[in-house]
Amino acid sequence: MHSRRDFLKWGAAAGGGLLLPFDKLAAGAARVRPFQVPLAIPPVIKPVRKTKDGDFYVQTIREARAQVLPGPKTPIWGYNGMFPGPTFKVRAGRPVVVRRINKLKVPVSIHLHGAEVPAASDGQPDRLIEPGEAYDYYYPNPQDASTLWYHDHAHHKTSRNVYMGMAGFYYIEDDEQDELNLPRGKYDVPLVLLDRDFNKDGSLRFRDKVDQVLGDVLLVNGRPMPYFKVANRKYRFRVLNGSHTRGYRIALASGEPLIQIGSDQGLLNAPLPATSIPIWPSERAEIVIDFSKYQLGTEVVLHDAPNPNNPLEGEPIMRFDVVRDEPDTSSLPPVLREIERLVPDAATVRRDFTLSKDFDRNLWVINGKAFDIDRIDIKPRLGDTEIWTFINASDLPHPMHPHLVRFQVLERSAGQIGPGDVGWKDSVRVDPGARVRIIMKFEGFTGRYVFHCHNLAHEDHSMMGNMKVVRGDQPEQRRAAFEGGYVDPADRATGTFRCDIRT
Ligand code: C2O
Ligand code: CU
Ligand code: CU
Repeated sequence: MHSRRDFLKWGAAAGGGLLLPFDKLAAGAARVRPFQVPLAIPPVIKPVRKTKDGDFYVQTIREARAQVLPGPKTPIWGYNGMFPGPTFKVRAGRPVVVRRINKLKVPVSIHLHGAEVPAASDGQPDRLIEPGEAYDYYYPNPQDASTLWYHDHAHHKTSRNVYMGMAGFYYIEDDEQDELNLPRGKYDVPLVLLDRDFNKDGSLRFRDKVDQVLGDVLLVNGRPMPYFKVANRKYRFRVLNGSHTRGYRIALASGEPLIQIGSDQGLLNAPLPATSIPIWPSERAEIVIDFSKYQLGTEVVLHDAPNPNNPLEGEPIMRFDVVRDEPDTSSLPPVLREIERLVPDAATVRRDFTLSKDFDRNLWVINGKAFDIDRIDIKPRLGDTEIWTFINASDLPHPMHPHLVRFQVLERSAGQIGPGDVGWKDSVRVDPGARVRIIMKFEGFTGRYVFHCHNLAHEDHSMMGNMKVVRGDQPEQRRAAFEGGYVDPADRATGTFRCDIRT
């Protein structure tokens, strides 16, 4: 049994980013020195076809070798053979179909994290694309501008599959955001944080753990603690914690504040300065850094601060080298967008989820139950507002994530609603021994979705539930013309793969 004191101790450790006592990054940092390689930016994927209905993309999931470490190449499993996968840039309200062709030897399932999609395209753990098969995912994008991401979600194999490289960015963009004139184009930069272990030959060293999967080497966009040459102007960075278990508290090593402009589900109401920003697995933090205040030649380090009170010491994440003089026509307006607060009075359903470990079975459970793919745990109704309370009765933090719905954080039992909590969210950290209350309104689609802990070790072992969203007072979203996939007869005719469309 763990005492209340243990909870407090772990709470402090969890808040500090690195999950003590696993002081592994320090060892890794000695092996791979920081700031030796340039930042890589994943390419933007282009649609193979545009029609009046929307855009059509194709991705092949395959083995490849990627330059990750300075030494030998690393065998990965990647979307189009890339680690991380290419970035989608799609428009709000314009549907997209992505055909995924599985050329791996293992089944995969691809989930678009934070997206409102029909259940058949959500990447359910059991909706697998078998080796040699393909599947067309339909994404209607009925959402505000936001930084989403796509990653593997195969039943009990998510941890391994993501470790091997299956993750990428998916931006939804809209006119409202464009009009703000935030830094854009090459001044709008994705940064996915991933920690990994490597064997001496450069290959990834995955171990299927129940509690935590932590890596020695911290990667940004698939390169170890890189440097990035920047101009003396404003940049927007879209930071995603794509790590399995590790939380970060991103901060400038100088102690100067970061300006947060967005979280999981798009822009905040207003820019928010913060000395450090906690970002737990699957969360996003969008920040603006204005390099115009630095002399050319300045090196600005972004690091993982140990705790909110001490942003000065930390493990390096990456370094910005201010090397160029460039004009800046972008702006950072004082108001970014209206965010309507959901009011607790509107909630008609309240649910409690106790998060704990079943030590007898060595599994993580929700309300005492391990995930059963055939059991429906909750049935929210479309149009209903619900309040969920997560109660963490364990000694590790749990970043909890429901598919389909965005939510707002109402309350934390321990600590304040932090900068990472404001705005629309799709994942929320629940500290050891703490309670977190969130509020959401079910919209969009009916069908079976999952909710789970986004520590991928916990997700696989088996901290997940099924929710079946059923009809309610609100009508279901109308599906656009190419619902059910978009099969080009020419693709079928080539016979190079079997297109198995299951909707
Ligand atoms: Cu990124 Cu089921 O989640
Ligand atoms: Cu998700
Ligand atoms: Cu967990």
